[in-house]
Amino acid sequence: MTSLLEVLTSAEADKVAVGHFNFSDLATFNAIVAAAREKRLPVMLGVSEGEREFTGVRQAAALVKAVRDEYDCPIFLNADHTHSIAKAEAAAKAGFDEIIFDGSALAFEENIAQTKKAIEAIKSINPAILVEGEIGWIGGSSAVLDKIPEGVGVLTTPEEAKQFVEATAVDILAPAVGNMHGMLASMVHGGVRKRLNIERIKELKAAVRIFMTLHGGSGTDDGDFRRAIRSGMTIVHVNTELRLAWRRGVEAALAAEPNEVAPYKVLGGAVEGVKEVVSSRLELFSSR
Ligand code: G3H
Ligand code: ZN
Repeated sequence: MTSLLEVLTSAEADKVAVGHFNFSDLATFNAIVAAAREKRLPVMLGVSEGEREFTGVRQAAALVKAVRDEYDCPIFLNADHTHSIAKAEAAAKAGFDEIIFDGSALAFEENIAQTKKAIEAIKSINPAILVEGEIGWIGGSSAVLDKIPEGVGVLTTPEEAKQFVEATAVDILAPAVGNMHGMLASMVHGGVRKRLNIERIKELKAAVRIFMTLHGGSGTDDGDFRRAIRSGMTIVHVNTELRLAWRRGVEAALAAEPNEVAPYKVLGGAVEGVKEVVSSRLELFSSR
């Protein structure tokens, strides 16, 4: 099977991006896999610390392996937003393809020191695992938010990006470029869109020359997505939009059958809606 490194290398050359979607239940997992297989596109599945506490670390890896073995398709697993070295090691041992060591809430020098340690620990378990580092605060939760979290909006500078990448030797960088985790209620209900700083993305890509990930994709302007991908973003993360679609699907299933108690029927009501979100984002991220 093609490796994640090969998939990212070819996406970077083609100026397209690989979609990354989070899951914590089988309905969302199945919806992501079905969308990617239908579109015949590579996809990354992510589990944050909270999500993998729920799914199980090895269980999440087993799910992805089962799909790969059965369909031989390019699907990859990422340990999203990992804050401790112990949790990074557990993901590495379980067979994850990528691990994000997220020290973005730490002071810059401490982030560098911790990220270096994490890379050493991960690569000593499996040198093929790609490690992503993060600089710049973009908020911490894929949720519907009342207001923009404090400190969000400060952009990563090319100088700090270069310093971070040179000091740590990360494979992938997640910078702050106007993006934010989660969605404001005005984005969910009022059509307000997140806007990105495309010039800064170009400057960062020129400064670091490694893969870059755009986090906080939910609610982002489609045109900005296209420009960001053309300017150097090779992975795009989306989570809150999937969670919203999941919830709407479950609510609709319960409203239609108030006495339903079969989990696969209630949760199964979420699959179509999540799949639609994933399909539309995959199509956008892969179009040139
Ligand atoms: O790592 C997860 C993502 O960055 C998701 O962000 O919930 O705003 O789409 P989002
Ligand atoms: Zn993220």
